[in-house]
Amino acid sequence: PIANNLFGLSQLEDQIRQAYGLKKVVVVPGDSDTSPLVKQELGRAGAKALLSVMDDEDVVAVTGGTTIADVAEQLTLPANGSLKGGWFVPARGGLGESMEMQANTIASTMARKVGAQYRLLHVPDLLSNHAYNSLLEDTNIQDILSLIRKSRIIIHGIGNAIVMARRRKLDPETFAQISSEGAVAESFGYYFNEDGVVVHRMLTLGLRLEDIRRTETVLGVAGGKSKATAIHAVLRFGQEDILVTDEGAAAEIVSHY
Ligand code: F6P
Repeated sequence: PIANNLFGLSQLEDQIRQAYGLKKVVVVPGDSDTSPLVKQELGRAGAKALLSVMDDEDVVAVTGGTTIADVAEQLTLPANGSLKGGWFVPARGGLGESMEMQANTIASTMARKVGAQYRLLHVPDLLSNHAYNSLLEDTNIQDILSLIRKSRIIIHGIGNAIVMARRRKLDPETFAQISSEGAVAESFGYYFNEDGVVVHRMLTLGLRLEDIRRTETVLGVAGGKSKATAIHAVLRFGQEDILVTDEGAAAEIVSHY
């Protein structure tokens, strides 16, 4: 059964890789919706995938969320490696989420784990037009934004649109708008419908869609059967290169789409 199981997982990996035109797919056994151990394994696989593409001197943009926090937790530098010239930066402003799952916290943890450097972006997740425009005039903010936009790699989480709208305590009006637009997924501050079309964006500082489009390696880490539709939607968006997921999500994606 173990050999069968492994065979089954690599088949899932191939099917998803081909269906969405990805470079690489990693599926860990189990379902992180129901098992914290599987979530940890997802983090470990995410960390391994990140190290496999990261070179010294790279700038890596990271998003927040519990999954990417698990990746940071599981990250360890191989004995012969050095990433001293590397940088970790948050992909976007993220104050507003709880500390452990903020992009700033995760970027600094990742940097510490592998001996790389980091810069933080101390701005809220969601901005008013006025705040956005005045922050853009600040030279410190401009500096860090230009570093963020040099990222060669993005490692990001994926969430269900409604779950994320609740977690971010969006006002009832925006909440209703997001659901009526058919949003099923959220990633990088953008809300996507099932076809991978952006239906809503949060006003936030950091990576923009055009930055994501030209980033060399976009690495998504998300698992759990409940995230299958969200993952499918973000894969349809078409910018993903590497997906690290679990069997629960992968089996659901393959049987539904
Ligand atoms: O808020 C940051 C973020 O990466 C979102 O873009 C994403 O939807 C969510 O976190 C994923 O969070 P989790 O891994 O906790 O499900």
